[in-house]
Amino acid sequence: MSTDTFRAIMARKSDAGQSVALEMIREADLPDGDVTLDVAYSSLNYKDGLALKGLGRILRTFPMVPGIDLAGTVRASSHPDFTPGDAVVLTGWGVGETWSGGFAERARVKGEWLVKLPPGLTARDAMVIGTAGFTAMLCVEALERHGLAPGAKVLVTGAAGGVGSVAVRLLSRLGYEVSALTGRPAEADYLRGLGATHIVERAAYAASGKPLQSETWAGAVDTVGGTVLANVLAATAYGGAVAACGLAGGSDLPTTVFPFILRNVALLGVDSVAYPTARRGAVWTRLADLLTAEDFAQMTREVGLEEVIALADPILKGEVRGRTLIAL
Ligand SMILES: NC(=O)c1ccc[n+]([C@@H]2O[C@H](COP(=O)([O-])OP(=O)(O)OC[C@H]3O[C@@H](n4cnc5c(N)ncnc54)[C@H](OP(=O)(O)O)[C@@H]3O)[C@@H](O)[C@H]2O)c1
Repeated sequence: MSTDTFRAIMARKSDAGQSVALEMIREADLPDGDVTLDVAYSSLNYKDGLALKGLGRILRTFPMVPGIDLAGTVRASSHPDFTPGDAVVLTGWGVGETWSGGFAERARVKGEWLVKLPPGLTARDAMVIGTAGFTAMLCVEALERHGLAPGAKVLVTGAAGGVGSVAVRLLSRLGYEVSALTGRPAEADYLRGLGATHIVERAAYAASGKPLQSETWAGAVDTVGGTVLANVLAATAYGGAVAACGLAGGSDLPTTVFPFILRNVALLGVDSVAYPTARRGAVWTRLADLLTAEDFAQMTREVGLEEVIALADPILKGEVRGRTLIAL
């Protein structure tokens, strides 16, 4: 085993609580796994913000490297499906939560968690998409399975965030009429650039409203939860569906049964963490087909590992726009 050192953000726990710092570590500091990777890129997701701040019980093993996603190249492998040089991406499976993750120049993981990058998608592209974009695609596919078709009026909440930005871009590229709900009206031009045709101010959905409201949306992607999600459900048209994946605005759901029992509205839960490996390749291939280099440039800011810890507060406050790529 290699004894040389490499850079990593390490989370440690003591009686004083959790601390995170940029350190030099060795492969021996990584968990046992059958594939060792050179990490080229990771990305910053909302959950990483919680993990870095010690909130939400995200990190449950110490010491460990946070970072819930990564893309890079296989360095060593005893897994039959992977050989050195393979380009791979990893999201979910508790990586960056209970298993050391992407905020390091190397990672050691289970091969069964890895997906080979589809042709045309670089490690950088894969982490511009990251967990957020992968989840946005799962939300779109959940709406499609429900029967939503291009042309339908859809709403994306938390639109200027990571999942939101990719969802707006994907839905608009697929031909939906996309409205973007945001608490940052200053990002209206950015959201229009991603394909939103209408901007809805968050304030319109922030206070509890009537259990049934004007039937406005055929479908929605919700990254926010809480009262916003309750209002989205109340404003979803007969037979429509809302794909819910997030809690940026709260984990409660102060709704009534009326949208479900009087309007046949469906609430579709979306989880990306344990999404079956066998189906992940097709999702990545679809993302590679739908998104362009221009999209990636539009929604991305690139930072170095040394800048990541300071971005935890801004992402939790909803101040980070689009996707934050971390170059290793
Ligand atoms: N289920 C899954 O597998 C899965 C996967 C990935 C992410 N998620 C969840 O999805 C959510 C979004 O993740 P992300 O990485 O895209 O985070 P993000 O980049 O921080 O985006 C969240 C967005 O939500 C909006 N927002 C923030 N605080 C809010 C508040 N108090 N009330 C209403 N809206 C608020 C902001 O958008 P505006 O400024 O445009 O309003 C913010 O940019 C998170 O809750 C995350 O945990 C779940």
